[in-house]
Amino acid sequence: MYLRFSFLLILIIIFSIPAYSADSTQSAPPITAINIHLLGPERVGNQPPVLAPVDNPQTAAKILLGKKLYFDTRLSKDNTISCASCHSPALGWSDAGPTSTGIDNQKGGRRAPPVSNSAYSPLQFWDGRAPSLEEQAKGPVANPIEMGNTHEVMIRSLNDIPGYVEEFKAVFGTTPVTVDQVAQAIAAYERTIVTTDSPFDRYVRGNDDALTPLEKKGLEIFNGKGHCTACHWGSNFSDGRFHNLGVKPAAGEKPDEGRYAVTKNANDMGAFKTPTVRDAAARPPYMHNGTEKTLEDVMALYHRGGGDDDDNLDPLMVPLGLSQKEVKALVAFVKRAMTSLNSSVANEQPIPKSQLPE
Ligand code: HEC
Ligand code: HEC
Repeated sequence: MYLRFSFLLILIIIFSIPAYSADSTQSAPPITAINIHLLGPERVGNQPPVLAPVDNPQTAAKILLGKKLYFDTRLSKDNTISCASCHSPALGWSDAGPTSTGIDNQKGGRRAPPVSNSAYSPLQFWDGRAPSLEEQAKGPVANPIEMGNTHEVMIRSLNDIPGYVEEFKAVFGTTPVTVDQVAQAIAAYERTIVTTDSPFDRYVRGNDDALTPLEKKGLEIFNGKGHCTACHWGSNFSDGRFHNLGVKPAAGEKPDEGRYAVTKNANDMGAFKTPTVRDAAARPPYMHNGTEKTLEDVMALYHRGGGDDDDNLDPLMVPLGLSQKEVKALVAFVKRAMTSLNSSVANEQPIPKSQLPE
């Protein structure tokens, strides 16, 4: 009862906080006993319903169409790559990493972030360069090292598939198929890929046995001594902002400018969007370039206060002074307690080629 009441209270507080600006020149909220208490996941959890933009309302037919497009390799130049090639449900809606492999076996420089829960991000991509899922979805198709196609050719191919033309017409009421419609349908599907039923969520809903004693200790550290909620806060465990943790470039790679490339603000050099921690266990390796192989490695980075030779290290990155037992507890919390159970999302089955429109 107490938990449920405080959960409601926190929801009210969260929704009454003015929508924060994505402008990362604002500094992250300071860590105080009060905001850790209010914003920390101990009392939040349980994702709110996803909001769709007014000009792209969710409908069952549109979501199914988006799902077909998501799993369809015919969106790529040579019919080999779909969105799911790099964002596979079986790999935590990411890929095996450390960075992605696109058309003609070309390697990109960044790790594929999960598509799951991306509906909760105010900005898309590690550097936040896309303002919406709709905008984001147009990128990979025409990216020369991802799907290698052009929008014109993709649209021509789709308009040559009578089954698709019919479905788009049923969903959007017009022909021919357009790039914006493809993006809208895919975004509508992505808005259904949200995970909520983790042991942590069950605990927040009042099931005290949902977490082991070690995981409860981990939650306490996540929320307190570990400072994790300074950045990973709210029901999706992300402030939606950009921070430089001093993550090292992969061997032989140049440092990635991150958010700086978008804002040209010196404070954003090497800063990346805070990813959700939900279901992290399902998608090693970690960070924008996949250089941390395991969750233990990620915790070791935080434990020592981030990478040590980065001029622009986020001031929130400080050595944590945790004991080995505390580090273990933190890993236990992130590993199992944040991983959704019985989720249809985790078990999503790809649409087989034979069931795609012809
Ligand atoms: C070749 C691999 C590859 C393919 C194919 C691909 N992506 Fe991605 N995706 C990535 C990588 C890598 C990033 C991160 C790039 C960056 O941040 O600059 C990304 C980022 C994203 C994001 C942003 C998530 C976030 O948290 O910021 C979404 C959403 C997404 N992709 C959806 C899609 C959709 C939809 C498709 C199909 C139309 C697709 N991707 C195709 C590799 C891929
Ligand atoms: C200063 C803000 C900040 C703090 C504090 C912070 N994180 Fe992060 N976290 C981030 C950002 C930003 C990234 C991505 C960094 C990158 O790729 O360069 C990240 C990445 C991660 C990842 C990898 C996720 C993935 O999909 O690659 C995990 C797991 C994680 N953090 C857990 C934690 C835990 C546990 C703590 C507390 C010990 C913590 N974080 C503290 C901002 C923060």
